[in-house]
Amino acid sequence: MALFSKKEAKAEDVHFDVLPNHLGIIMDGNGRWAKKRGLPRTAGHKVGAEVFRVISQECADLGIKYVTFYAFSTENWKRPKAEVDAIMALFKDYLLEAKRDFIKAGNNKIKFIGEREGISEELLRLMDEAEEETASHTGTTVYLAVNYGGRQEIVSAVNKLIAEGKSEITENDISENIYTVPECDLIIRPSGEERLSNFLLWQAAYSEFWYSDVLWPDFKKADLYSALREFEKRNRRFGG
Ligand code: FPP
Repeated sequence: MALFSKKEAKAEDVHFDVLPNHLGIIMDGNGRWAKKRGLPRTAGHKVGAEVFRVISQECADLGIKYVTFYAFSTENWKRPKAEVDAIMALFKDYLLEAKRDFIKAGNNKIKFIGEREGISEELLRLMDEAEEETASHTGTTVYLAVNYGGRQEIVSAVNKLIAEGKSEITENDISENIYTVPECDLIIRPSGEERLSNFLLWQAAYSEFWYSDVLWPDFKKADLYSALREFEKRNRRFGG
């Protein structure tokens, strides 16, 4: 099946009065999903990657402008090497496929946020190519947070400002020196965990949250719709 084929999309059948401009998704629960089935954790990541593919396209079909998937945190390097290697291999496979589809059929953009240090040269090259080859697209921007940490993002922005000789720092300075990701409106976290885990710390200042017990490999379009329905009803005051 083509990565971003419209075949299964149901987006045309649903309507939302309000959509988040920027949706963040923490893909969690792959390991537990696999364990419940007596499978290696990597099997959960493999199914999780398929779900990423379906849900990222659904976000595009719905017309969500920006969506960020938390794929690998700066802390995830602590996992066993075999698991880290399997996740990196999945990124490689999916990147090639996503790139092909984004270029062939889609109008979506791929972007990456996170530290480059630690990522293999080969994967970095693929990431750069995917960004470059989709840069002129005007549809949904799919950000993949790989080797990403919200604190590290803020600290590196502050260090840049110090290096420029700033002695006083404003919110604007930080906003302009972190990864160029818009303010986040809604964060979805499946798998029963109700925490941010260092995801989009700066951009999520006024984000709404939606949690669910469903494990990421079981996450369906219907779960995305539930989150978006709930978001429609939220009364956002931005502190006012
Ligand atoms: C969290 O589940 C998931 C990860 C740390 C990795 C996410 C990776 C993928 C979904 C696969 C590749 C993605 C793309 C974009 C191709 P967990 O392992 O922490 O699960 P657990 O909490 O049940 O142990």
